[in-house]
Amino acid sequence: MVGGWAYMRASLQFGPQFGLQTGLFDVAQTWTPDSWTKCEAKHLPQYDDGEALAATEAVLANLPPLVFAGEARELKDQLADVAAGHGFLLQGGDCAESFAEFNANNIRDTFRVLLQMAVVLTFASKRPVVKLGRMAGQFAKPRSAATETQGDTTLPSYLGDIINGIEFNAEVRRNDPQRMIRAYSQSASTLNLLRAFANGGYANLRQVHKWTLDFMGRSAWADKFKDVADRIGEALDFMQACGIDPETVPQLKSTSFYTSHEALLLPYEQALTRQDSLTGKWYDTSAHFLWVGDRTRFEGSAHVEFLRGVGNPLGMKCGPSLDPDVLLRLLDVLNPGREPGRITLISRFGHDKVEAGLPRLIRAVKGEGHPVVWSCDPMHGNVIKSDSGYKTRPFERILAEVRGFFAVHRAEGAHAGGIHVEMTGQDVTECTGGAVAITDAGLADRYHTHCDPRLNAAQALELAFLLAEMLNLEAGERQKHAA
Ligand code: PEP
Ligand code: CO
Repeated sequence: MVGGWAYMRASLQFGPQFGLQTGLFDVAQTWTPDSWTKCEAKHLPQYDDGEALAATEAVLANLPPLVFAGEARELKDQLADVAAGHGFLLQGGDCAESFAEFNANNIRDTFRVLLQMAVVLTFASKRPVVKLGRMAGQFAKPRSAATETQGDTTLPSYLGDIINGIEFNAEVRRNDPQRMIRAYSQSASTLNLLRAFANGGYANLRQVHKWTLDFMGRSAWADKFKDVADRIGEALDFMQACGIDPETVPQLKSTSFYTSHEALLLPYEQALTRQDSLTGKWYDTSAHFLWVGDRTRFEGSAHVEFLRGVGNPLGMKCGPSLDPDVLLRLLDVLNPGREPGRITLISRFGHDKVEAGLPRLIRAVKGEGHPVVWSCDPMHGNVIKSDSGYKTRPFERILAEVRGFFAVHRAEGAHAGGIHVEMTGQDVTECTGGAVAITDAGLADRYHTHCDPRLNAAQALELAFLLAEMLNLEAGERQKHAA
């Protein structure tokens, strides 16, 4: 897979942070892993030491790929089923992974909440759930402001651990290409552990009772989960009596789990882009699935140009500013062959905008026959500043956006195909509300995020039960139409 990797990028120049580069974009142009450098780029960091950057890229380009192209194709096939209405996509993890919070317990806890959510959703919908972590590479962040001021000091904003450090200190806030190597190494270790959990017995359905986290004991949803787990246990006992058990049917003792992140830091993504030896196609081997953010998905952008050439399944964030005609043109660029499973559209409107804004996008996409997965990100349109000064997301607004998303899909006769959440397996206090009601004043207790506020484990499970209810409503509608 590393064969065929030969091109020079020493002449590459980066525009000023948050600045523009000359727009020479032309879809008809041949794609190369570095063709994005000729396009308008936003939210790319400026590195003051060009040589250090080139040296780091050369190192990355020689490191082994993190994922195999065949795995990305397998995920794309599963997403094609979701696009056709036969399944649900569950995508979640940190807003920003960090070097400081990197340890086995954090990885395990996020993985197990995702497993719990997946079990609830599979049990309710009787359909497969595709599990996709915002993990093992989710480091780079687009920021609304280029600088941050504290007292009399103004410094560059924190852009994610793969670019600079969060500490408010001029030296730490300097963009350092070496950080890419550390992010790669952390991604490799994270992915290794995730693969071990997914295939080594931890995800065995017989363990379903053990996935409950201790601090969830206080939540009413923990009882509901125990209920589901009991029923799964009974079903497994019954199946075992019939001769079907994890030893004879290995699917019961492992699960498929994929990784994803925003393909924001293009020098890093480019360095990990390799030509697949089986198909000759290019794949970004930094993750199975990559998405383009709401701020970088404009026509002619460097990020869109880069992603159009890789074979991975792709996501695109769709916020209130996205015009339906622009969306259709972007889909033609990213998926000219209209391949099912290639594109997941992740809507992130806000609880009060989704019902007005989303229908016209769904109609446009449906009208043109683009086979997409529609997924709901109820996080990024619902950020507020709490009275106590913390950036937070009221849980009721998150649930309201999910309800709105499903209502719109029911009304449009479309499949609400997925959820995209910022969450953690830790007992943090970052989003207000939920059954274990987190108050404004309580936010200070355990507010640990490096960027946006995340759902804690109890809130994530509560959301899964709401989703289960919504999926059942959708199935009811489908049956009504079929009758
Ligand atoms: C994100 O997913 O962390 C993000 C920055 O989202 P968006 O591009 O939708 O604002
Ligand atoms: Co975020």
